[in-house]
Amino acid sequence: MDFKEKVKRNVADNFDQSIRIYQEFEKKHGFFSSYALALAETIGLTQKSSVLDVGCGYGLSAAVLSRQYGCRVLGIDLSREMIAAGRAVEKNENIRLVVGDGENLSPIVGDDQFDYVVYNASIFIFPDAAKAIDEAFRCLCPGGKIAFSYYPLLVGDNGSDLFDTAFKRLGEPLPRFRVITDYAVACKALADRCGNIRHHRRTQPLDIGFLQDFFSIPAQSASLFPGRSYEERQELVRQLFAGLCDAEGSGQIVWRMAEGSKKTPTASCQCP
Ligand SMILES: C[S@@+](CC[C@H](N)C(=O)[O-])C[C@H]1O[C@@H](n2cnc3c(N)ncnc32)[C@H](O)[C@@H]1O
Repeated sequence: MDFKEKVKRNVADNFDQSIRIYQEFEKKHGFFSSYALALAETIGLTQKSSVLDVGCGYGLSAAVLSRQYGCRVLGIDLSREMIAAGRAVEKNENIRLVVGDGENLSPIVGDDQFDYVVYNASIFIFPDAAKAIDEAFRCLCPGGKIAFSYYPLLVGDNGSDLFDTAFKRLGEPLPRFRVITDYAVACKALADRCGNIRHHRRTQPLDIGFLQDFFSIPAQSASLFPGRSYEERQELVRQLFAGLCDAEGSGQIVWRMAEGSKKTPTASCQCP
């Protein structure tokens, strides 16, 4: 099995094991739903549009886009357990959740086209973002948009990288695969397809409790401390962020987003 397939298998396994804690995290913080809404608002998502939600998890983004924007959403995710959990709770007929690989959309999507393809906090886990974006572009109506929200930056008051600081304080090496695809690589893939792309960011004050909860999701902690048991990872995550706030002043969590369009010189889209 090549590296990319191995990554995907690990990702699927990690998210299969993440459901309960992921759901508890969302119940407490409402984070993934609000990140999806922030992305929608930022890119000016239109009411009643059709959306392909790639790396949809258990359908949080699909649910808010359908509720707030009246969208029809097809969600695709590698994790069978995530999709099963989503189907168990989501009975909205405008939402369809399907197991599949976002880097290989054709078997699922066929010739259907969408007004938007979105990746809410998922593109950074894709080993081949260029392939994913190529596939997304093919499924996009003329004039449609591809947009993603990205993994957080932790920025100190002096501009320093607080991940770096936190790992040094803990005496652990910076993980090699905190993300699989860098922001610059994902943006290049988008720009290669869409030409000019737009970057956006939202910030929130450094919140240690939030970070400890976010990185305690099994799939997130596995990317920070690979090869350790979940209990070890949980304790390491707690220590990693504890005290960072006091030591580093206020600091910020920075959430980045990017969007690109499929240019259309002609009339409006004939999407269903
Ligand atoms: C952090 S979760 C975000 C889920 C969802 N977008 C949300 O807002 O709750 C990332 C998701 O991306 C999925 N994923 C990662 N790589 C994928 C791929 N190649 N194809 C489809 N889904 C993928 C994972 O299984 C996981 O459910």
